[in-house]
Amino acid sequence: MIEVSMFQLFVIFVIILYIVRRPRIGENEPPLVPYTIPILGHTYNYLFNTKKFIKECKEQYGDCFSIYIFGEVMTILSRDTLTEVFRNPDNFDMISATKETFPLDQLLPYSDDKPEFHARTAREQVSGKLDINIGIVQKYLIKGIENSIGDCNEPKVVYNAWNLINYIIALPIANVLVGEEAASHEDLVKALGDLAFDLGPLLVIPPILFFIHKKLHEFVLTIPFKFGWSPVSRHRDIVVNRLRPVVEKRLKERKELGDNYKPYNDLLDYYMSRPNFDNTKPNNLHFHVDNLFSISFAAINTTSRAAVDALYDMAGRPEVLNELYEEALAFDKECNGSVTLADVQNMVKLDSLVKESLRHAGNIINLSHHMVSKSYTFSNGFTIPEGRKISLYSDDMLKAKENFGDDAEEFKPFRFVNAKSPATKVDRSYIVFGGGRHACPGRFFAINETKLFLHKVILNYKISTKSGKIEDKIFIGPLTSPSQSGLVFENRVKNN
Ligand SMILES: *[C@@H]1O[C@H](CO)[C@@H](O)[C@H](O)[C@H]1NC(C)=O
Ligand SMILES: *[C@@H]1O[C@H](CO)[C@@H](O)[C@H](O)[C@H]1NC(C)=O
Ligand SMILES: *[C@@H]1O[C@H](CO)[C@@H](O)[C@H](O)[C@H]1NC(C)=O
Ligand SMILES: *[C@@H]1O[C@H](CO)[C@@H](O)[C@H](O)[C@H]1NC(C)=O
Repeated sequence: MIEVSMFQLFVIFVIILYIVRRPRIGENEPPLVPYTIPILGHTYNYLFNTKKFIKECKEQYGDCFSIYIFGEVMTILSRDTLTEVFRNPDNFDMISATKETFPLDQLLPYSDDKPEFHARTAREQVSGKLDINIGIVQKYLIKGIENSIGDCNEPKVVYNAWNLINYIIALPIANVLVGEEAASHEDLVKALGDLAFDLGPLLVIPPILFFIHKKLHEFVLTIPFKFGWSPVSRHRDIVVNRLRPVVEKRLKERKELGDNYKPYNDLLDYYMSRPNFDNTKPNNLHFHVDNLFSISFAAINTTSRAAVDALYDMAGRPEVLNELYEEALAFDKECNGSVTLADVQNMVKLDSLVKESLRHAGNIINLSHHMVSKSYTFSNGFTIPEGRKISLYSDDMLKAKENFGDDAEEFKPFRFVNAKSPATKVDRSYIVFGGGRHACPGRFFAINETKLFLHKVILNYKISTKSGKIEDKIFIGPLTSPSQSGLVFENRVKNN
């Protein structure tokens, strides 16, 4: 009998892993950046030195190149090849690649509606109804600000600004999604707002198990769901319970009033008018609440992120804040406290600041990995094979000198004031909302809500950083998170 120690087993395992997972690069592929440590490849640099590492790769190997991380090859695209991805969405499958690291469909198992359905809904029912719902949005932003920031006669220092603002942003969105009656329940608003927060840890677990096999990460991640545990179920129960009486009331109204039924302008009413809304089916509400989650998951957290980034950006620059305050005051005088959508659109300085802030969000590459459905040849001649994971080097595109000038790297808050290029306008280089046919359909709503929120905050408070400096974001691998250093709110003395 040969005694095999754990150590020997481990060595054999690593050797097999090395042989099986060795990167294979075909002909005409973008160059694979060389690496020295087998198996690990570029993983360390990718996680802990992303910005510098990817920048140097591009300088040395050109606009597209491959790196070897988590046991697989990932091709990084920038500039023209990145544009090609947005132009040819049919060749790139974003869904299946995302599923490997983040199984959203398993988290929302009741509905089988497709992402296209949610995109259309966001465009037509949420962004498309903003003009009708602007009053509601405004009313609940004011309420949220009063509840969460409130009176700052004594300066108030906030450290978890993202969480605080996430709640303020969630309140009007909840009202637009499910109507004022259901959204009057704080637990429902919290459930919608916290969903992304609670799923966050799943997203940032590095896919260590990819080293062994791609499917293993998803498998291990979803074991708890198979036993009935899910971070979503608690939230779903709350929302279903709050919606049930509202739905029953509206069904009754529909029956009694017939053609005279006056539809509510919220998403719930739209769901209720779909042919598949059948409240006699046992899981009818679960189905539609999972749809609601698909929208709120994408909408609330991203909007609050934009708002928080903009707040830090202005808080660290008192002269910028003063200029924005002047603009806000002028609109406030004219509209007597209740701005219209046209007013929001005309706040050009604020729009420019939001746009510049989004441009500087700092995420190095876009993590919504795409996957090549069939082998694809770019116009520069490089071919990438079927199933290859690709990532977009978005930070590089957002700082392109050809599009933003020699000072592209700089934060210039009023860069876009006379550019006739609002924060919602997607172009070749401004890709914060993606690009092409699949560009984020909720961006009109998100930008207008963000601007409205900032408008109210700027009017009410003097905002500064506790340090008095411009605060940097926190890097988590290739992604960033807002700073957690103190943000100070202080009442404005009105009429001066
Ligand atoms: C937003 O979502 C991300 C990813 O799911 C998460 O890490 C973060 O904590 C969330 N933030 C808030 C304020 O909900
Ligand atoms: C402005 O609003 C205040 C209170 O909301 C109201 O009393 C006043 O009449 C309004 N003024 C105009 C010109 O609409
Ligand atoms: C990545 O791009 C998609 C659109 O293609 C966008 O919806 C998403 O928010 C982006 N993610 C990050 C982390 O920038
Ligand atoms: C919202 O804001 C953007 C830019 O500020 C604008 O282009 C858009 O048309 C606005 N309105 C609506 C209803 O989306």
